[in-house]
Amino acid sequence: MTVLITGAGLIATHAAAALAAKGEKIVFYDVTPNLSYIDIVMEGKPYEVEIGDILDLPNILRVINKHNIKGIIHTAGVLPERARANPSLCTRINVDGSVNIFEAHRLIKLRRTVFISTIGVFDSRVCDGHPWTEDHRLGPNSYYGTTKLAAEMMGLHYARDYGVDLIAVRLSSVFGVSQYYTSRASELMRDIIEPMALEGKATIRRQVTDINQYLYAMDAGEAIALAYDLKRNSPQRIFNISDGKLTGLRKIMEIAEQNISGASITITNGAWKKSKGTNFVPEPFSLNAARKYLGYKPKWPMGKAIRHYVKKIHEREALKKN
Ligand SMILES: NC(=O)c1ccc[n+]([C@@H]2O[C@H](COP(=O)([O-])OP(=O)(O)OC[C@H]3O[C@@H](n4cnc5c(N)ncnc54)[C@H](O)[C@@H]3O)[C@@H](O)[C@H]2O)c1
Repeated sequence: MTVLITGAGLIATHAAAALAAKGEKIVFYDVTPNLSYIDIVMEGKPYEVEIGDILDLPNILRVINKHNIKGIIHTAGVLPERARANPSLCTRINVDGSVNIFEAHRLIKLRRTVFISTIGVFDSRVCDGHPWTEDHRLGPNSYYGTTKLAAEMMGLHYARDYGVDLIAVRLSSVFGVSQYYTSRASELMRDIIEPMALEGKATIRRQVTDINQYLYAMDAGEAIALAYDLKRNSPQRIFNISDGKLTGLRKIMEIAEQNISGASITITNGAWKKSKGTNFVPEPFSLNAARKYLGYKPKWPMGKAIRHYVKKIHEREALKKN
């Protein structure tokens, strides 16, 4: 069966690779797809690409009919930095664009839509001494998070009122070989891993977030594929997805040195002074619901993820030379 993946960035490609490995046919729908990037992640698995805008509902309907699409993974979106720079565009793409997908699902009666939501929908000021379940208090602290929560809630209304079988996965900070590095966490991991892999050393010179909850793109892709396969009309429609723990910058630097042979990393005193102790979230996710309903278990601890990331970087550099 064929699945439409909106977007062709970090999460879209990794979800596509996981779904293709399970036998699904893949069609990407993206406004500016980059085929050489998609190829690095897809590793020879077949796919098709349609160039189009998420705001163009007639075109989305045309593509769904053309490819006999049965379900959608909706990743196309504007991430926090771009959202800050252009809130109006962010609203159109993240909210109106998502409603277009829910509407397409409703009109064509698809089997499943998976909406890619974010940890940014939660109120990160609330610390209750427990890992965050899906019921942790909502309250985005960014415009981006607000648009994602709005779209997620609209999707749940489409599920309740129009039979749109929607699952939302709230991902923590995803990293991996990317085309755009549109999130701060993916940018930080790039600035640590890529110079270490290619030049043997890296130096962090700017303020970054010290403590964060990560998710390697391979685990994100797998979780999305599991959500896509979940039985119809599940009583649980929202899932927190991460590696289930908080990791500090010093620990990441140590793991990177252990896993990238012969490479070293430092942070300048000034950068460490500003970064030390800062956190994106104060408590980790509970993965209980994801484990129970999806059978999700993170398979890419940081060391293994870094080794895989390094391999992908070398593949990308080899392709550039050819
Ligand atoms: N990266 C993270 O850490 C993270 C965490 C949680 C949730 N998310 C969500 O996952 C989704 C994808 O994030 P990503 O990291 O893969 O980002 P990305 O920037 O790598 O990919 C986004 C893709 O959306 C496409 N796109 C943008 N506007 C479009 C439009 N108008 N029409 C069609 N395509 C359009 C871009 O071309 C790009 O390929 C987003 O919805 C984001 O909110 C990301």
